[in-house]
Amino acid sequence: MNLTWHNTALTKQKRASIKGQKACVLWFTGLSASGKSTLANAVELRLFELNRHTYLLDGDNLRHGLNKDLSFDEHSRTENIRRLAELCKLFVDSGLIVLSAFISPFKKDRDMARALFDEGEFIEIFVDTPLELCEQRDPKGLYKKARNKEIDNFTGISSPYERPQNPQIHIADSDINKNVEKIITYLKKGAFINA
Ligand code: ADX
Repeated sequence: MNLTWHNTALTKQKRASIKGQKACVLWFTGLSASGKSTLANAVELRLFELNRHTYLLDGDNLRHGLNKDLSFDEHSRTENIRRLAELCKLFVDSGLIVLSAFISPFKKDRDMARALFDEGEFIEIFVDTPLELCEQRDPKGLYKKARNKEIDNFTGISSPYERPQNPQIHIADSDINKNVEKIITYLKKGAFINA
């Protein structure tokens, strides 16, 4: 590989410091319709109110552009997460608090993502909503289609979701404000934002 890594004069720490924060990624994982995007949105709004600098990356949205060539078989999901993790890393390097909402069903892919970051920077948030509830919500009608075999490889139905064993934050409560505060408290404790 005839490539050389170029170090930049400005560092992640410097970029983050003028924003008054430490950069990190809040990596939301969970089933489709578990509430990842909703919670990530609410946390981003809260951080905005606190004058913090953020960016939210959503799996569904990125599959409309950057990853529109990818499907949902295991290999494609791995490539999906590889690209998205690299994207998160770039955003973190820019000094932002990044929020990502990807199902990311496979442990090995989440581990691969974590390995791209410095110690403590990758904050795994497991949105642990039971499959029955996600299926009941079914906002896009996808569970119904998956049950009718109109779509295959559907997470939770015809493709596995490997539950995180040691997430930094475990969300199993339906009270969104409480969940937002839980995440904000974690960020304060870790000095990502001021207490
Ligand atoms: S991931 O598994 O590769 O991390 P990602 O978060 O990018 O998934 O995209 C998930 C979204 O794609 C779901 O919220 C849903 O709207 C849509 N989708 C379409 N087909 C599937 C499928 N077979 N399995 C899961 N989600 C699907």
